[in-house]
Amino acid sequence: MQRPNYPSGKDLLSADAVSRFDLDDIMERAERHLREEEMEKAGHALPEPPAPRRRPKVIATLFDQRSTRTRLGFQAAAARLGHQSIDAYDTDRNRIGQTTGESIEDHIHTVELYSDLLVVRSHMEDLPYRVGRLSYLPVINAGNGADEHPSQALVDIFAIRQMRGPIETLGIALSSDTRARFAISFVKMLKLSPPKRFTLCCLPDAPLNPAMREAMTVLANLGTAIGIVHDIRQTLDHDVLSIQMQDMSKFAHAALGNEAVDKEKESEPFTLTARKILDARSDTLILNPLPRFSELDTSCDSLPNAGYFRQVQLSVPMRMAILERMLLGIPWTGQADSFPPSSGG
Ligand code: ASP
Ligand code: CP
Repeated sequence: MQRPNYPSGKDLLSADAVSRFDLDDIMERAERHLREEEMEKAGHALPEPPAPRRRPKVIATLFDQRSTRTRLGFQAAAARLGHQSIDAYDTDRNRIGQTTGESIEDHIHTVELYSDLLVVRSHMEDLPYRVGRLSYLPVINAGNGADEHPSQALVDIFAIRQMRGPIETLGIALSSDTRARFAISFVKMLKLSPPKRFTLCCLPDAPLNPAMREAMTVLANLGTAIGIVHDIRQTLDHDVLSIQMQDMSKFAHAALGNEAVDKEKESEPFTLTARKILDARSDTLILNPLPRFSELDTSCDSLPNAGYFRQVQLSVPMRMAILERMLLGIPWTGQADSFPPSSGG
């Protein structure tokens, strides 16, 4: 079969793919989708009601790890745009995998004939990159092993802008294992609008992931005041705190994969409770990519600080913006070519 030359910048595989120009464009699109949703909810007519779609696009999700928000978020976003989605990587039902022996190459070359865009989540870090090279369709990395989760970073930046304003004016804290993929993409993406202050809250004896170290160095070179602390209380004077579990090695396989989650408790300095927020008289906006573990106590949910479910809600206009842009064929201009982490690129 004749394959076209794949356009440069077709895929969203890493936060590196996104330039400042792309970020401005995607934020504008997401804000428009949000405004339209709010107008519709308030019963107002839209200035330009969307025309019924005669030929909807098909979004194929290929997920070999569990997901609630990313999979349903892209599916909901597709539906809101008048498109449709198909689940294209159900290992129990597709022919792919060891039982029937169909190769990933044949699977992708089949799925791309049914669809217009591929969304891939995998425990294999190189899979979204392989799919991006195999297919002429645009590909979104929806989380690859311990590498990246770029659409989550766009959601997080959109959520912060909506709930606290321009990132450049803010102090942002992150409490997380520095190997977490959402955290890597988030800190990498912050370079496009460097905050005034960035504080990492992490275990005192855990080695700093090189990708996180590099992203923090980039921020420091752009003028962000960088700090590292080892107690969540020291983040409660920031404008925003994004929090997740501290030691993924205990949970990662279960949390990201398909097994039961170990219920081991997060240690006290890294657990956020309503008591700590109230004692600090903190108005810090709390975000969490979810699912949460014991790092974020449910007592926080009723406080005005709790932004994590609004973050989920805001992910739909952002994912609509991502799909819209990529289905229009608008390239990501941050980095012309993306390489999987193992290639050293
Ligand atoms: N759900 C997100 C992910 O799959 C964040 C997390 O679980 O830590 O990466
Ligand atoms: N935030 C996030 O990626 O959630 P899921 O793992 O449920 O998709």
